[in-house]
Amino acid sequence: MKYPRSQKYDTPELMGKIMGPNPVKLEEELLLGHRIPAGATVCDLGSGQGLTSVFLAKEYGFTVYAADLWSDPEENRRFFREMGIPDDRIIPVKADATALPFPEEFFDAVVSTDSYNYFGRDPAFLDSKLLPFVKKGGYLYIAVPGMKRDCHDCLPPELLLSWTPEQLDYLHDVTYWKNIVSQSRQAEVVSVEEMESNEEVWADWLRQENEYAVGDRKAMEAGGGKYLNFIAIVLRKKG
Ligand SMILES: C[S@@+](CC[C@H](N)C(=O)[O-])C[C@H]1O[C@@H](n2cnc3c(N)ncnc32)[C@H](O)[C@@H]1O
Repeated sequence: MKYPRSQKYDTPELMGKIMGPNPVKLEEELLLGHRIPAGATVCDLGSGQGLTSVFLAKEYGFTVYAADLWSDPEENRRFFREMGIPDDRIIPVKADATALPFPEEFFDAVVSTDSYNYFGRDPAFLDSKLLPFVKKGGYLYIAVPGMKRDCHDCLPPELLLSWTPEQLDYLHDVTYWKNIVSQSRQAEVVSVEEMESNEEVWADWLRQENEYAVGDRKAMEAGGGKYLNFIAIVLRKKG
C-alpha cells in the first residue's frame, strides 16, 4: 500500500523515536476508512516516545492523550512542542493501561499501536480496565505484532535467535486475538485481520541502529519474518 501521510515522518530524527516496526505506517493502514469523529478526544494507548501521538494530532486533527508506562512524559512534552503542537492538543500522561487515570467515558476512541499485546492478553482487560473510559459507541483501533499461526509449542529456531519464549508469548495469531476480544460483553468485534504493512514496517525498523533493532535483525535475517505479521483489531463499545 501507499503511505501518503506516513512518508512525511520518514526522517532520521523522527524514525529515531520509533520503538518497533514503523508505527506511523501501521497506524495509517489501521485508520484507513476509520469511524472516529472529527475533533475527537483519543487515547494513544502505549504511545511510547510519542511519534504516533503527533501523527494522530497532525494528520487526523484529534486531541490526543499520549498514555504510556515506560516513557518520560516530560521528554514527550518537549518533543510535542518541538513539533509545534499546542499543549492542549497532545497531553502526555504516565499511565499503566491496567489502572488508567481518566474519568469514565472520557474518550471518543482509543488507538493503540504495537503495545496492546503487553497488557491486553487478559480477556478481562477490555471490560474491566479499558472500556469504562470509552464513550458508548466509541471505537478502538488496535495494531499488534503477531504470528501468522501460533507455534508456541514448537518455536522456530530462527525466532529464538532474537527472542526468548517468554518474549514470543506476546505474539499470537488472528484466531487467538478473536478469542480474546470476543469474550468482552461490552465490545462489538468489528474486525480482526492480518495487516498488509508487515514487510514495509519491519524494513523501516531494521534500518535503525539502536540496540533493540540490531538485536531483532538476527531473527529477521535468518528468515524469521515468515512466521510474523501484524494484526488489526477494530472494536466498538456497545451502547
Ligand atoms: C514496543 S513499544 C511501542 C511504542 C509506540 N507505540 C511505538 O510504536 O513506537 C511498547 C509500548 O508499550 C508500553 N506499555 C507496555 N506495557 C504498558 C502498560 N501496562 N501500560 C501502558 N503502556 C504500556 C510501553 O511503555 C512502550 O512504550
